[in-house]
Amino acid sequence: MSGLLSRFFPDRPPALRVATSRDAAALAGLHAGAFHIAWDAAEFERLLADRLSLAFLATDGPQGAPIGFILTRGVLPETEILSVAVAPRWRGRGLGRQLVEAVFGRLAAEGYTTVFLEVEEGNAAARKLYARAGFREIGRRSGYYRTQGGVPAAALTMRRDIA
Ligand SMILES: CC(C)(COP(=O)(O)OP(=O)(O)OC[C@H]1O[C@@H](n2cnc3c(N)ncnc32)[C@H](O)[C@@H]1OP(=O)(O)O)[C@@H](O)C(=O)NCCC(=O)NCCS
Repeated sequence: MSGLLSRFFPDRPPALRVATSRDAAALAGLHAGAFHIAWDAAEFERLLADRLSLAFLATDGPQGAPIGFILTRGVLPETEILSVAVAPRWRGRGLGRQLVEAVFGRLAAEGYTTVFLEVEEGNAAARKLYARAGFREIGRRSGYYRTQGGVPAAALTMRRDIA
C-alpha cells in the first residue's frame, strides 16, 4: 500500500488461525513471494491434509488478505518447521515471531517437546528470528541448498526444546 493509501486504510492487527487444506492457495501464494523454488497449491493441500502437519495462517485482520504462515510436520514428541514466510510488506514488524510463538503454544499443548529446523546460513532475517525464539545451532550441512543463482549454500540445523 502506498504511503497515502496506508494513512487512510491502515493495516489491521494480524489475525492468526490454524490453517486447513482450504488455505492451500493462500500458503502457496505467500510461499511463492518468499522463496525462489515455490511449492504449489497441490503440494500445500497434501501437506495441510496430513494429520502430522500443523500450520498457522496470518491474515490482515480476521477477514483480510493472507500475510504470513508457518508450517510444521512431525511425529510426537519431535517436530520440524518446514516453512515460514511473511509477505514482504509485513516483514520486520514482529509477525514472524508471532507465528513461531503461536505454533509453539499449540505444539506444546499437543505434547511435542522438541522443534527442529534447517535454515540457509546466509538468511540473516530468518537466523535472527530463530535465535530470538530460542533456537540453538546443532549442526551444519554444507551444500544443502542452492541459491537463486545455483550456488551451493550451507544449511544450519537448529533445535528448540519447548517442554
Ligand atoms: C524470515 C521471516 C519469516 C521473518 O519474518 P518477520 O515478520 O520479518 O520477522 P520479525 O519481524 O518477527 O523479526 C524477528 C527478528 O528478526 C529480525 N529481522 C527481521 N528482518 C531482518 C533482516 N532482514 N535482517 C536482520 N534481522 C531481521 C527482527 O529485527 C527481529 O529481531 P529483534 O526481535 O531482535 O528485533 C521473513 O523475513 C520472510 O518471510 N523471509 C522470506 C522467507 C524465509 O526466509 N523464511 C525462512 C526460511 S528458513
